[in-house]
Amino acid sequence: MTNSAILTVVDHPLVSHKITLLRDVRTEPGAFRALCREITFLIAYEALRDLPTKTVEVETPITTTEAISLRGPAPAIVGILRAGLIMVDAILELVPHGRVGHLGMYRDPETHLPVEYYGKLPTRIDEREVILVDPMLATGGSAVAAIDKLKTDGAKKIRLLSIIGCPEGVAAVHASHPDLPITLAALDERLNENAYIVPGLGDAGDRIYGTL
Ligand code: PRP
Ligand code: URA
Repeated sequence: MTNSAILTVVDHPLVSHKITLLRDVRTEPGAFRALCREITFLIAYEALRDLPTKTVEVETPITTTEAISLRGPAPAIVGILRAGLIMVDAILELVPHGRVGHLGMYRDPETHLPVEYYGKLPTRIDEREVILVDPMLATGGSAVAAIDKLKTDGAKKIRLLSIIGCPEGVAAVHASHPDLPITLAALDERLNENAYIVPGLGDAGDRIYGTL
């Protein structure tokens, strides 16, 4: 695992195997969605390792004991539309008490810059751990715009989970938000001339929703 305080690339045979299937151009949308969910479970295990906890008392059928519970208000799970939705659902299975935010953004096909078209965040975003999700971190434009918006609305504790990233995207996020932790399942080589990740998996939204 590449692991610094701000970039974690989860190195695990199951993640690598599933990423290979995800990359495969022959993988159909149903299988693609299932793989996105499974990879999200696996990387969330690492990405959420430092969620704050507290000690509580719990009564088992046998005795009363001290145990660990999550602390603080419910985390905010924020997905960048539309591809991020697949990861929101997976994180919600792990954190069912989470509150969900949506940020609508698409990349302009000519400029590759993000165009914002929707935003709805949970209340008290300033008090919550924010788990920002988007399968692809390419130029980083969408992630930076999303983090800017979250911080403008008061969010203080933000982490980003993506399935595939590239050096350009990581650098862009950390140029604007130096301390923001990023967790990836794979760090690819580079962007191509159309700002797609190489080798990547193509257009995540199109492959998830079958809109190719
Ligand atoms: C994809 C992806 C990210 C963005 C990444 O979304 O889900 O949001 O591209 O690229 P960037 O790092 O260069 O900003 P897209 O714009 O294709 O929209 P979609 O999810 O609606 O398909
Ligand atoms: N968005 C995607 O879905 N894939 C890429 O490779 C780049 C941006």
